[in-house]
Amino acid sequence: MLKLLITGGAGFIGSNFIRYVLARHPDAQVVNLDKLTYAGNLENLAGVEKDSRYTFVQGDICDAEVVAAILDGGIDAVVHFAAESHVDRSILKSEEFVRTNVVGTLNLLELCRMKKIGRYLQISTDEVYGSLGPESAFTENTPLAPNSPYAASKASADLLVRSYCRTHNFPGIVTRCSNNYGPNQFPEKLIPLFISNAVNELPLPVYGDGLYVRDWIHVGDHCAAVDKVLQQGNEGEVYNIGARQEYTNLEVARRILRELGRDESLITFVQDRPGHDRRYAIDPTRMENELNWRPQIPFEDGLRETIEWYRRNSEWVANVRSGEYLTYYDRMYKERKRTLSDR
Ligand code: NAD
Ligand code: TYD
Repeated sequence: MLKLLITGGAGFIGSNFIRYVLARHPDAQVVNLDKLTYAGNLENLAGVEKDSRYTFVQGDICDAEVVAAILDGGIDAVVHFAAESHVDRSILKSEEFVRTNVVGTLNLLELCRMKKIGRYLQISTDEVYGSLGPESAFTENTPLAPNSPYAASKASADLLVRSYCRTHNFPGIVTRCSNNYGPNQFPEKLIPLFISNAVNELPLPVYGDGLYVRDWIHVGDHCAAVDKVLQQGNEGEVYNIGARQEYTNLEVARRILRELGRDESLITFVQDRPGHDRRYAIDPTRMENELNWRPQIPFEDGLRETIEWYRRNSEWVANVRSGEYLTYYDRMYKERKRTLSDR
């Protein structure tokens, strides 16, 4: 029986991964360690809490006592999702990104090393590679060149994992995935924000000229890839995960509006994000050739299902789009609109 510690399991990808693992592996047990920041939401795990194979611990990955107690309970492998994950927030204030993404990861690594944990997966991102020109795609050998404080904190964590593998013969593996979309994503990220705004006939704030390119993967395909790496990946290695689905932000906005029968006049160009990476694209050849993984969900189908999910779960959206979110979002949106009109 495999007993997993999943960090950040109340967030978007972590909660989808917990559901995936419990559904696919009847013999798996999961401990979910999550601080429940603004992005953590136990509603994402509705129904799961009744499963006797699942345990939730509210706590911080920086807290050595909490982490050590969980590891002492007998953990075979750690899958580390917990992070501050939004680029725009990292631009407003970077400190928490370094604390959770760098110091928190170091704390996990050190305790996992001391407790001789058998396998450790670092869930990283393609953003550590920086920005691409129109031609190539990121391979595992592309040099790290992060451009936002978020990406820099994730790259730092990746380098710590690498150093533990080389120095301590630590059983760490890093996965770097492209932009995810799907159910339960917090509506500060592009796709859920644009869906929620379009549903409510609010403006869709497109940064800059809208011709920035992201490489989209459905969260279900990402979960399957992480599971593959967990079962079959080689220690000390990096695996890039992506579905070869590149779209400009404007194309994404138009597709969402079309699907919801809304007018394109909702598209509102606002001030660009500072340091905005022009293009991301993942070359997933290694996942395909070495681990025989293939994405299953075409963007068109995944986007339609995701729109449907947000429509059906209007209460979930209303709950997360309140309180602190509104203060943050109002500030961000008004600031971007203001600077645009100042130009
Ligand atoms: P998210 O923001 O939705 O969730 C993050 C979770 O971590 C939340 O539940 C939060 O409460 C928890 N958390 C934050 N700080 C914590 C701390 N100090 N201790 C314990 N828990 C804490 O993020 P997500 O989009 O699900 O991303 C998960 C991981 O995947 C991140 O490491 C991110 O860098 C990576 N990733 C995300 C994407 C994407 O498109 N969303 C793409 C590639 C990689
Ligand atoms: P985001 O979802 O924040 O992911 P990331 O920056 O990690 O790739 O943004 C995806 C793209 O969408 C990125 O190019 C920034 C752009 N964007 C907008 O144009 N408007 C928005 O309101 C947001 C949140 C993002």
